[in-house]
Amino acid sequence: MPESFRGLRVAAFESRMADSTAVLLTRHGGVPVEAPSLREIPLDDQTEAIEFGRALVAGSFDVVVLLTGVGTRFLVQAIESQIPRDSWKKAFEQMFSIARGPKPVAALREFDCKVDLVVPEPNTWRELIEAFRSTNPASGVRVAVQEYGESNAELIAGLEALGAIVTRVRVYRWALPDDTRPLREALRAIVAGEIGAALFTSMKQVDHVFEIAREETIADALTTAFNTQVVICSIGPSTSLALRNAGIGVDIEPAHPKLGRLIAESAERWDSVGKRIPPRAFGTPKELSVGVVSAIGSRDETVANEESSLNDSIFMKACRRERTDTTPVWLMRQAGRYMAEYRELRSKVGFLDLCKTPELAAEVTISAAVRLGVDAAILFADILLILEPLGFDLEFSRGEGPVIHNPLRESKDVDRVKAVEDLAPVSFVFDAVRLIRAGLPRGLPLIGFAGAPFTLACYAIEGGGSRHYDRAKAFMYRDPGAWNALMERLVDATALYLNAQVAAGAQVLQVFDSWVGTLCGRDYIEFVQPHMKRLFTRIDPNVPVIHFGADTGSLLELQREAGGDVIGLDWRVDLDRSWERLGSSVAVQGNLDPVVLLGPIERVRSEARRILDQARGRAGHIFNLGHGILPSTPVDHVIELVEIVHAYRSGVRDQGSECL
Ligand code: CP3
Repeated sequence: MPESFRGLRVAAFESRMADSTAVLLTRHGGVPVEAPSLREIPLDDQTEAIEFGRALVAGSFDVVVLLTGVGTRFLVQAIESQIPRDSWKKAFEQMFSIARGPKPVAALREFDCKVDLVVPEPNTWRELIEAFRSTNPASGVRVAVQEYGESNAELIAGLEALGAIVTRVRVYRWALPDDTRPLREALRAIVAGEIGAALFTSMKQVDHVFEIAREETIADALTTAFNTQVVICSIGPSTSLALRNAGIGVDIEPAHPKLGRLIAESAERWDSVGKRIPPRAFGTPKELSVGVVSAIGSRDETVANEESSLNDSIFMKACRRERTDTTPVWLMRQAGRYMAEYRELRSKVGFLDLCKTPELAAEVTISAAVRLGVDAAILFADILLILEPLGFDLEFSRGEGPVIHNPLRESKDVDRVKAVEDLAPVSFVFDAVRLIRAGLPRGLPLIGFAGAPFTLACYAIEGGGSRHYDRAKAFMYRDPGAWNALMERLVDATALYLNAQVAAGAQVLQVFDSWVGTLCGRDYIEFVQPHMKRLFTRIDPNVPVIHFGADTGSLLELQREAGGDVIGLDWRVDLDRSWERLGSSVAVQGNLDPVVLLGPIERVRSEARRILDQARGRAGHIFNLGHGILPSTPVDHVIELVEIVHAYRSGVRDQGSECL
């Protein structure tokens, strides 16, 4: 495995993303030595932030520059302690806003604030100045800069050189972590030659590392160790500059300033840096549960070849209702808590962090698909992620499932649902799609997905799961105008989001309308179907779409009319009779009861055969469950189910006849 750390001990000074960093290092064959080096704390005295709020409302600024996501949130919090949201936001709308990168963009979106300009990668003060120069040429422009930790003198000087009048707004400061022991121990281990690489992910880490080294009276020895026997990996140009200023040479800086790229490129290149790494710097790498991440990018097929093998896969053929010798199979929620590897990973990384760390999401997706031997992989993400850029505050709390802290309760609340024009806040999803596409075995298609507008609206209004969707339905009956406005926003965002997944590398899309079965046909026609039609017409016409709903036995014809190339069936309906109802213009997916997998394997076998018999080998059947795999499912049963489906040969198909 050439791209592996091969057991190298790697010190990581990251704090907020310490868990994901450690997991990624392990995945790349490294032994993480976690040494968190800073903590972000709001300034006790928020005078500057509040002053800024007042000046903002008074119209004293032309431009505001937001440098960090954390800082943007602290700033808003401080302002709102004194100034109502409506008034500061009205003033904000009048100004030109600049975000230094995706994180402040995401924070601004949370407060429904516009972003006029996003600074391009690698998001340093140089690109910021360049961006400023191209958009605000006049001198005398009044600029407020949200600062973090400490002031960036080059940035301020650069803006002033362009004639700007700069006001600095400090909102938080950096401090050493509460417990500095792991950092002290890691630095001593570096000096003792027990660590082979060091990962720096922000400028301030450099200061704190040397502050502690001085306290430990090992600063000179540390500099020598860094420069002779430790591979120095830096996230981007600013951090590299801070390292060089401290007398440390940088060995590896990734092409994009992202954590995943830093670790992947360091794993790939550390060995060719040519440092004298002492044997003591190697630990025992944990057994890699899967080597998929390291396999990413090592393929040499031509793009055209890969495209045709994807197109010719049995899964894609079934989506197009072409004949296949074997029935393709995949399973909803095929990556999840029923798998020990997944639970292991989740014991270290929260669910949202997992979704937001593309390398880990890719690993979960690929390893589940490869282990089960299914005919398609599904992106590891969640239907609720799109709610964040729409302005909802989403949390997955342990045991409780998803919670939306600011649900819509009254008609007027719909006004605060944002129009999603820019998908930067969910760019991690597209990064994951790209990594998955690059790492999947040849010819294995990838399914992208989104929630359908009704199901998303249920979550947005209920604030979480619900039994009867009473709040959501009452909202819909009470004010159809507000309901339709909400559905339109959701459709616009979802269409954009799905097409972006295709652009990033997904071959098929699935739309989950998990909760629409709570409606009768009349309500579906009145409140849902027009929106679904609009959604389907906006999706890239070259990509097959699976339209899934649970408990929709009474809605099947209406769902087919709404759109989709494949209709998902749950176990409450018979596959053959439902397919007759739907007609020959669509493929079907389904429909084993997920609970059958918890029963004896004979039952799994007989139920699977019953469904396959019902399909009678007709072109266009994709085997699946009627809904997602339950967490208590034995993995063996799932693997065996896939084998049963693949081994099945229907009498009808063997005679070569095609029905429908
Ligand atoms: O199918 C896959 O393997 C891909 C990943 C995927 C997840 N969620 C991961 C996930 C997909 C396609 C979804 C879709 C989803 N999410 C739906 C529609 C499908 C359906 O089941 O009807 C819905 C309604 C959600 C919302 C959601 N996400 C709920 C209600 C919950 C909590 C309940 C539960 O099943 O845990 C989640 C969390 C979630 N999404 C988990 C996973 C693997 C479990 C999180 C954990 O690790 O604790």
